[in-house]
This record gives sequence, C-alpha cells and structure tokens, in this order.
Amino acid sequence: MSARHFLSLMDFTADELLGVIRRGIELKDLRSRGVLFEPLKNRVLGMIFEKSSTRTRLSFEAGMIQLGGQAIFLSPRDTQLGRGEPIADSAIVMSRMLDAVMIRTHHHSILTEFAAHSRVPVINGLSDESHPCQLLADMQTFLEHRGSIQGKTVAWIGDGYNMCNSYIEAAQQFDFQLRIACPEGYEPDPRFLALAGDRVQIVRDPKQAIAGAHLVSTDVWTSMGQEEETARRLAHFAPYQVTRELLDLAAPDALFMHCLPAHRGEEISLDLLDDPRSVAWDQAENRLHAQKALLEFLVEPAYHHA
Ligand code: CP
Ligand code: NVA
Repeated sequence: MSARHFLSLMDFTADELLGVIRRGIELKDLRSRGVLFEPLKNRVLGMIFEKSSTRTRLSFEAGMIQLGGQAIFLSPRDTQLGRGEPIADSAIVMSRMLDAVMIRTHHHSILTEFAAHSRVPVINGLSDESHPCQLLADMQTFLEHRGSIQGKTVAWIGDGYNMCNSYIEAAQQFDFQLRIACPEGYEPDPRFLALAGDRVQIVRDPKQAIAGAHLVSTDVWTSMGQEEETARRLAHFAPYQVTRELLDLAAPDALFMHCLPAHRGEEISLDLLDDPRSVAWDQAENRLHAQKALLEFLVEPAYHHA
C-alpha cells in the first residue's frame, strides 16, 4: 500500500514536520481572517475512537468541516469492529470508502495492522505508545511563543507513557534536549530511549529535570485504561506535581504545557493553568490548526468535475 501514514513522529522527516507546523500557523491566520479555504471538499475522514476524547475528536471533526470535507465518528461499540470483524478486513473496506482514517486505540498494533491494509492515510489519534498529533500542536505553540525549539531544553515531569514517548521522538526530530523526571517503574519504553541516545536523560528529581528548562510539560498520572491503578499511582507520583514554585527553577522565559485533560491538585497545582507561563489553552486550540495542516498534507485535494 502506498499511502503515507502518521502513526508516529518518525513517519515524517524533520523538514516535513516543520512544514506541517508552519502551515498550521498559516491556516490559523486564514481562519482568524475569515478566509474560506476548502481544499478537501467532498473528502471524508473516518474516526475510530476506542477511548474517550474531547480535543482530538473536535479538532479533527471541525478541521475536516473547515477544509470543506466531512468526518464520521465511529466506535467499536457501534461498528462490526466491536463484534470481532478482523482489523485487516475493516481496513480494506473502510479505506475503499474513506479518504483518511484516524484511530484512537488502546493497542498501537491495531494502528499498524490497520495501516498495513489501508489504501488511505492512517493517523494515530493516541495509542498506548504515542500521541504524535499532540506534539504537532505543542511544537506549533512553542514556535509561536518563543521561535525555534532547536537547541533548547525540555523537561518532562511525570509518567513515562504515551505523551512522554512522543516527546522523546520530538527531541530527535526537532533537535532539543529532553530531561525526564519520573518515579522508578514509570520510565518510558526502552525502545524509544534507545533510539534517542544522549538527547534524552532520565532523572528522579523533578528539580534537576526542570533547572533552566525552556519548556516544561506533564500529563495525567492515570491514563485512560489504567484506572484500576489510580491509588498506587497517586502515591508514587505525589513528589512529581508541577507547581509555580517548581516552575520558578526553569528558565525565566519558560513555557508550561499540558496536553489536557488536567487533574488540578494531582499532576499540576490548583493554580498552574492560570499562571502566565502556561500556554495550555493555545496548545489545545492548536490541535485544530496543526491537524488541518496534517490533513492537507496527507489527503488528496478535491475531485475534478466530470
Ligand atoms: N489531549 C488530548 O488528546 O485530548 P482528548 O483526550 O480530549 O482528545
Ligand atoms: N496519557 C493520556 C493522554 C490523554 C490525551 C492518556 O493516555 O489517557
């Protein structure tokens, strides 16, 4: 199958990623000026959600509509996927009807298997492995507020799970140093660390990770699908809450990001999203613009008239 997919940040070159982000800024400007831009007229994105979502669903759905196309929400509950129809068969059939497919899944292998049998681009809308679309928005947000992230230092405080894995890939693709502070037993996937080499450092002390950092980011302590571990996680992660005082140890012009949803009083202090250093709301909005640029890049433009 020849379609390009976006299952991880490593599926694109560094130049392609930067191009998508810069285009996201242009599309944001077009929208703010009320300019109609509908290159994906009549194009249809299928969105399969195995887990809940606010931002990912809305940004892809609104984004497709704004680009002139449509998006269809699907879940295993109301498709044959939930009754055991094989992923490969579903991919073959769905990709004959759709122009792109976005999947949010508990198992990254579902994305790779679907992509292997899909005629059309497949996009990772969050898996147990990574969240590349979120990183497009994060990198766009940094570029808008502070310029290039190349050569800067980023601190990841908290769980070494899907978001952290994507930050490790971003460190390679966008050329920054990443310091990860996580409790023992919550380190990122060793496969991601092995590829990143000395670009990524794991420390236990959040103060050490954050010292002088230009960007600080975190995520919930209990991700979707881990709910039964909540009590244990609350205990292990307690020293890893990001507070204004912790952020004071970062660079004077540091930004704070959170992919959201946030649990105030857990991974962040009650007031952190109100701090002027937090750009979480811009970051959330940029999901829309960055993913519109991604869709424009991946999906063939409008049909010709007969
Ligand atoms: N950040 C993010 O992916 O949010 P949703 O779970 O609301 O899509
Ligand atoms: N780590 C979180 C990210 C949500 C966008 C989760 O997987 O639930």
